Amino acid sequence: MSNVFVMDHPLIQHKVGVLRREETGSKEFRELVNEIAMLMCYEATRNLPLRDEIVQTPVAQATVKQIAGKNLGIVPILRAGLGMVDGMLTLVPTAKVGHIGLYRDPETLNPVEYYCKLPYDAAERDIFVLDPMLATGGSAVAAIQFIKDKGVSRIHFMCLIAAPEGVKKVQDAHPDVDIYIAALDERLNDHGYIIPGLGDAGDRLYGTK
Ligand code: PRP
Ligand code: URA
Repeated sequence: MSNVFVMDHPLIQHKVGVLRREETGSKEFRELVNEIAMLMCYEATRNLPLRDEIVQTPVAQATVKQIAGKNLGIVPILRAGLGMVDGMLTLVPTAKVGHIGLYRDPETLNPVEYYCKLPYDAAERDIFVLDPMLATGGSAVAAIQFIKDKGVSRIHFMCLIAAPEGVKKVQDAHPDVDIYIAALDERLNDHGYIIPGLGDAGDRLYGTK
């Protein structure tokens, strides 16, 4: 699993532990998703290319490092991916944000697309696709394919909790895509839910169940 990075930072692991608890309410759940996304963003961007730039400090010229080229693009998969956007934007406020609307058909578990709007210059950016849950992998594989179809080649996928089945599906379909995970869980149940997981991320974020 060469392009899979499980982020074992203690702060990330602690916050995921609280997130999983069934007694964690929507307000705290949203705050935690946001904080974990921010911590993951810090780790996942450590290999971004830098360039030298000369700036004037109050006392002298200094050669400083700046992120090279266009900055990042962030593409949350609606709706649960929205919960991770602010955490990313806190650290990379210049990132452009696109959206992909997908839901899992409850019978077939196949992704159904209902919206796609990307930044006009997405092809020139490193795109981070966000979704808290990577279960069967159907949604992630479809979202990444939509983005590739728009000419984007530098794509990363970031999720909080993944099942091995979903990780394999993304790796098989998109071996060029790095996958960042906060916790790699055991398996899926018969309804395509991650075990132990945290339940339905969208419902827990927005209190819809
Ligand atoms: C959840 C989750 C992922 C998808 C993962 O979304 O946020 O997008 O399921 O499952 P998969 O890996 O098997 O495709 P859901 O379809 O419940 O939609 P929602 O975000 O609108 O709740
Ligand atoms: N989507 C979720 O929100 N949770 C799961 O466990 C699987 C898919």
